[in-house]
Amino acid sequence: MYRSGLDSELNDEAQEFVSSIYSDMEIVPFDVAGTEAHVIMLYESKIITKSDAAKILTVLKEIRNGKIDVEDTNKNAEDCHEMLEGYITKKVGSKIGGKIQTGRSRNDQVATAIKMKLRHDTNMIQVYILQLIEALLEMAEDNKNTIIPLYTHLQHAQVGVLSHYFIAQADILSRDYERFSSLYDRLDSNPLGSGPVGGTNIPIDRKITTELLSFSYIQDNSLDATSTRDHMSEFASCVAIMMVNLSRMAEDLIIWSSNEFSFVEISSDLASPSSIMPQKKNPDTLELIRGKAASAIGGLTSILTIQKGLASGYGRDLQETKDATWVTSKNAQGALQMMFNILINLVIHKGSMYRAAETGHLMALDVAEKLVEKNVPFRQAHMEVGTLVGLARSNGKELIGLTNEEIESVTTVNPDMIIEIFNRYDTQASARKRRSMGSTSSNEQDRMIKESRDSLEQMFNELDEQRQQANAGMYEMWGKIDEMIKSSKRSKKTTNR
Ligand code: ARG
Repeated sequence: MYRSGLDSELNDEAQEFVSSIYSDMEIVPFDVAGTEAHVIMLYESKIITKSDAAKILTVLKEIRNGKIDVEDTNKNAEDCHEMLEGYITKKVGSKIGGKIQTGRSRNDQVATAIKMKLRHDTNMIQVYILQLIEALLEMAEDNKNTIIPLYTHLQHAQVGVLSHYFIAQADILSRDYERFSSLYDRLDSNPLGSGPVGGTNIPIDRKITTELLSFSYIQDNSLDATSTRDHMSEFASCVAIMMVNLSRMAEDLIIWSSNEFSFVEISSDLASPSSIMPQKKNPDTLELIRGKAASAIGGLTSILTIQKGLASGYGRDLQETKDATWVTSKNAQGALQMMFNILINLVIHKGSMYRAAETGHLMALDVAEKLVEKNVPFRQAHMEVGTLVGLARSNGKELIGLTNEEIESVTTVNPDMIIEIFNRYDTQASARKRRSMGSTSSNEQDRMIKESRDSLEQMFNELDEQRQQANAGMYEMWGKIDEMIKSSKRSKKTTNR
């Protein structure tokens, strides 16, 4: 359709090689909407007649409703934009169809469709993030008294409560959410009307399409609007960061569901068996969250690399950013939903967690801090307890299990102090009576859950508004199209009479 300046058709192999038809399937609904807005604008700017616009819009509405005559689609089109223009032209004839691309290029067209698709996907991802945060906070509420060892270097570190872990994950995801919110603002500017690179001499009105497609702003500079994809880099980067976060949570749950830990069990309908070992209940769903995090990093790398050597102005390389982005987006949505399912069905073995918290000399820091309360300088207390742990290890017992004689044999402080601390030691209290802000203490768990719930509610409200803004605009545009089609039919009847 566009080849009049070239003296031959595209060779078959080249056609297949340059085609983006398959990856374009993801943007077709948005390309249709973008075209609807463009056509309305052409009419409202008096560039085409109402009757021509109505005819084109009638076909676009049919496509939007899934009514497509497959035999009228051009299988050799290079992309969905050529296919769409070709299809409409076939339906309304070249005299009218030939006007669709007035004042528009595929460069601003594809940029617009991509931004709309990313706006949509960002909204979806944000919904799934908030659902996951909600589930995590509920689990935190239920596990404020569930004692668990906390680890550093995957070695026993301090006694903790399980709610602390879930609140941490909710906080991490809240930051992921915020990253997407900030990105959303940059996705919310309209490239349509930028032409191929430097604008157009046709008296188009970019404000009209911006309003119809409910973009909050016009993406001003036509060179920038048609040739940059930093919003795709940013989207993939938000996803990659989030997937890495999810992957760490997945890894925790994988470790915790091993026989050795037995802290948790994932639901059977989310686990996979082995083809040979009948006893297996493998956490493949969690492993794939971890695996798909790697693809997300790969996607981001590919999107960045495509752009790094590209001169200003559109280059066909940019087409390659699409597939990586769609895969990244789909994986992100899948991983969030899967993690939600895993969590709400997770069986928690509180007994195993408690037993583990009573081993591994987990109370060492607590004992040292009690000595500090008794005026022993912290470094000396650390050394005293270190010596006691060393003795416990070589005698094959827990720190707290040392006898009075054993304590007396190594300590340089008054052994009665240590004996008293040991006698009063309580695993539960160790975690729940810590004093510092943000610690595992009961008060801090209550405070953090409450504050996280308040900010979750605020995020839900903001997201509602953000989604409504994008959707309401579309419904308005479709209403306008119905009106135009109807009134064009009416005036046709009047003219015929
Ligand atoms: N299929 C192309 C893409 O995805 C659309 C833009 C084509 N523009 C061009 N000048 N060849 O980027």
